[in-house]
Amino acid sequence: MQQANLGLVGGGTVGGGVFQAIQRNGALVASRLGVRLAVAKVAVRDLAKARAVKVPAAQLTTDWQSVVNDPGVDIVVELMGGTTTARSVVLQALKLGKPVVTANKALLSAHGEELFAAAERAGTNLYYEASVAGGIPIIKVLREGLIGNRITRLYGIVNGTCNYILTRMKREGADFSAVLADAQRLGYAEAEPSLDVDGHDAAHKIGILASLAHGFWVNPKDVHVEGIRDITQQDIQFAGQLGYTIKLLGVVKQAEAVGRAATKANAKITAEKARIQVSVYPCLVPNSHVLASVNDVFNAVYVRGDIVGDTLYYGRGAGQDATASAVLSDLADAALDLKFGTKHRIPPFVPHERAGAVVSMAGVTSRYYVRLAVLDRPGVFAKIAAILARAKIGISSIMQPEGHEGAVVPVILMIHDAPNAAMQKALAQIAQLEVVKGAPVMIRVESFE
Ligand code: NAP
Ligand code: HSE
Repeated sequence: MQQANLGLVGGGTVGGGVFQAIQRNGALVASRLGVRLAVAKVAVRDLAKARAVKVPAAQLTTDWQSVVNDPGVDIVVELMGGTTTARSVVLQALKLGKPVVTANKALLSAHGEELFAAAERAGTNLYYEASVAGGIPIIKVLREGLIGNRITRLYGIVNGTCNYILTRMKREGADFSAVLADAQRLGYAEAEPSLDVDGHDAAHKIGILASLAHGFWVNPKDVHVEGIRDITQQDIQFAGQLGYTIKLLGVVKQAEAVGRAATKANAKITAEKARIQVSVYPCLVPNSHVLASVNDVFNAVYVRGDIVGDTLYYGRGAGQDATASAVLSDLADAALDLKFGTKHRIPPFVPHERAGAVVSMAGVTSRYYVRLAVLDRPGVFAKIAAILARAKIGISSIMQPEGHEGAVVPVILMIHDAPNAAMQKALAQIAQLEVVKGAPVMIRVESFE
């Protein structure tokens, strides 16, 4: 049987998982592919480090170049993370004409366009199933399964760490930092956990999905990003009383779905361009919607195609084994490239929309949950309502929850669809009222229409 020799650059959580998965299911994969996958070398930073997954010393090196350049290595697997050395690893391997597999969403977000162009020039492929939503084969779904559809909506819970934190905060009333420490211990969190909790990791992933779905590489600076650091126990509880669950959601919508203010606020983006909203923010998901029930480290991606309608993909979004499963799927494609050549298959990313553009969030219309801390005295609601009325922003409900005694009490407003910029401006005025104490809290509400 033909053998594909693998060079792993990175032998940590994911690299160790891939090594272990090949030991466990290598024979099964070989019988399905007709190609045996064999790990030839593994590059790590520190040879003396204790490793949960044991790699024979003879296969370990600290010199990634010796792995990539080794003529005996057929496929390079970049699992080191970061965007500097990892970029060199991938470019060098592609230059040598070797297929590359990566789980590195930060790298793709920053340099995807350059890397896919390099792969095309070299006549090889760059695979990235593990970069988004852990074990869910969402890249293959968009690339192959839904190829006949225009993707009109895509909603994703795509960061396992944040979903794990929000789930435990809701379920147990747990403290944010204690749960984050657990996510780190379980191998879910990035080396730099602010990438997770501040929404950047989800933004990298949602940018990759938006690029694949809409055919142009989304520049990460155009993705609107908010994380979960400011989500409080109080908001989780109030949202629950109103029938909602707070989730960190990645949202990709075709511009006509973005709202009536989109055209005005994005006047420079002409109608003939493919215009999309690409954003990540915590939002209130109705408990009746399936995404409200996606808990712990699980991810889910909800995709609407113009032909297929609504579809849903669910699975573990982070961690050693889920991610290794996605890497194995890419290794199978890379091995088949070696066996049959690259020409017979759809390349992993095909740019096909030259005039695509991401709209500014200012013009996007949403519904909102707003929490204010106000003085408990007559006339307060009237002052707040007057500012919203001047801004032509409608209130759908007001709640002053029982059981809050004292001079300052919480008030929750649910707001009808309004442009983001108008909402921000009105809230800045509300914050100036002498009856309002502290900064207003604003969280978007998603209706999935
Ligand atoms: P990790 O546990 O920190 O592993 C990184 C590995 O890279 C380690 O083995 C490290 O060596 C090695 N390394 C770092 N710099 C190196 C260098 N200059 N030369 C050679 N080796 C080097 O990280 P991870 O969680 O496996 O993540 C790896 C990648 O997968 C990242 O891009 C991450 O975003 C992505 N990813 C992770 C998950 C997850 O659930 N963890 C899921 C999907 C995607 P040492 O072992 O000696 O430190
Ligand atoms: N840190 C990432 C997460 C790993 O928590 O989702 C999976 O990409």
